Amino acid sequence: MKKKKETNYISIRESRKIIRENVRQMRYYEKLKRKPKSPAEYTTVMHDENNLIELDNLQTCFFTDNGTVMSVNGVSFDIPKNKIVGVVGESGCGKSVTSLSIMQLVQAPQGQVVGGEIRYNAEELGRDAEGNKIAYDIARTPTKEMYKIRGKDITMIFQEPMTSLNPVFTIGNQLDEVSFVHTPNIDKAAAKAHSIDMLKKVGIAMPEHVYESYPHELSGGMRQRVMISMALAGNPRLIIADEPTTALDVTIQAQILELLKELQKREGCSIMLITHDLGVIAEMADEVVVMYAGKVIEKGTAREIFHNPMHPYTIGLQKSKPLITSASDEPLYSIPGQVPNPINLPNCCYFKNRCNRACERCNGQYPPEIKVSDTHYVSCYLYDSED
Ligand SMILES: Nc1ncnc2c1ncn2[C@@H]1O[C@H](COP(=O)(O)OP(=O)(O)O)[C@@H](O)[C@H]1O
Ligand SMILES: [Mg+2]
Repeated sequence: MKKKKETNYISIRESRKIIRENVRQMRYYEKLKRKPKSPAEYTTVMHDENNLIELDNLQTCFFTDNGTVMSVNGVSFDIPKNKIVGVVGESGCGKSVTSLSIMQLVQAPQGQVVGGEIRYNAEELGRDAEGNKIAYDIARTPTKEMYKIRGKDITMIFQEPMTSLNPVFTIGNQLDEVSFVHTPNIDKAAAKAHSIDMLKKVGIAMPEHVYESYPHELSGGMRQRVMISMALAGNPRLIIADEPTTALDVTIQAQILELLKELQKREGCSIMLITHDLGVIAEMADEVVVMYAGKVIEKGTAREIFHNPMHPYTIGLQKSKPLITSASDEPLYSIPGQVPNPINLPNCCYFKNRCNRACERCNGQYPPEIKVSDTHYVSCYLYDSED
């Protein structure tokens, strides 16, 4: 009975067990969220007050019928004030779930943040008795409190602007709504003036005309500009842009990225830019985080990641980017294989099966994070000197 044949199928009995366990877990985490809390329970202190956000060993999972999907499995990185942080990685490596965790928008009850801290350096919280900067821990902040942060201090721009705008209301209607939510007692005229201002800010010509338009009357690029203006309306401190240009064509893509960069400088906010396109990161980011199967495998400044990539995965990503100088008859490099499904992953390097430099040690435990410089970290045995 002990030695069971290895199959990919789940027996009815196992399936029942998984479902029972899922219900138990989901109840537990939902109850935790509803429990009344004192501020001391959901605030903490920043480790470095120059950061806006500090993700510390964040774990977000989905309780599915096939088992627990560890979408984000111990992710740690910082988003400093006034910087653009790029997050790259293949599809399915946990980029969106990381950003949704910051916004407390992970699809509940099956999706839950089960561990770690998301420290948000909110200006209004001040300092504690020892002079440390107090921060929200978004992983524990009650939903009611989160309303003060989400959409105002931290906003999000999604990939597909057509699905994020409501087709039955005018652009003006939807933009005004943002002012009504975030500025109590604002009247209709003031809201309209603010909305028109926002449209001007994102480089829309004839803002009065666009204000009266419906989403389907605008082009893709215009719609994405409207989304950006909506994100800016509450004077955010962090804009999360999840693949903001993937649905746009190349020339419009360049314009939108240029706009984001310019706005970041002018408004003095930070941007977390999620993309699977290293070219975009090279143009935009100050710091880069490379994710793979729910973990950060390498992080550093843009310079370090582009001039001195260390993890074989990062090197592979760089090689699979077309260059203007590469010979046209050479096929473009692609990393063989796929991102593993993050259910029940064994405790060893997740990339080793696809890695061209894997060695004996890679069969051991998951590699530790190795410090290359003050800002550059990599998780790979190739750089672990204890041998
Ligand atoms: N609602 C969900 N239910 C179950 N699994 C999900 C859900 N959303 C995302 N996942 C899983 O989480 C992992 C990470 O997804 P995601 O963060 O969307 O990847 P990406 O890096 O492409 O943005 C994937 O394996 C995906 O299948
Ligand atoms: Mg995504």
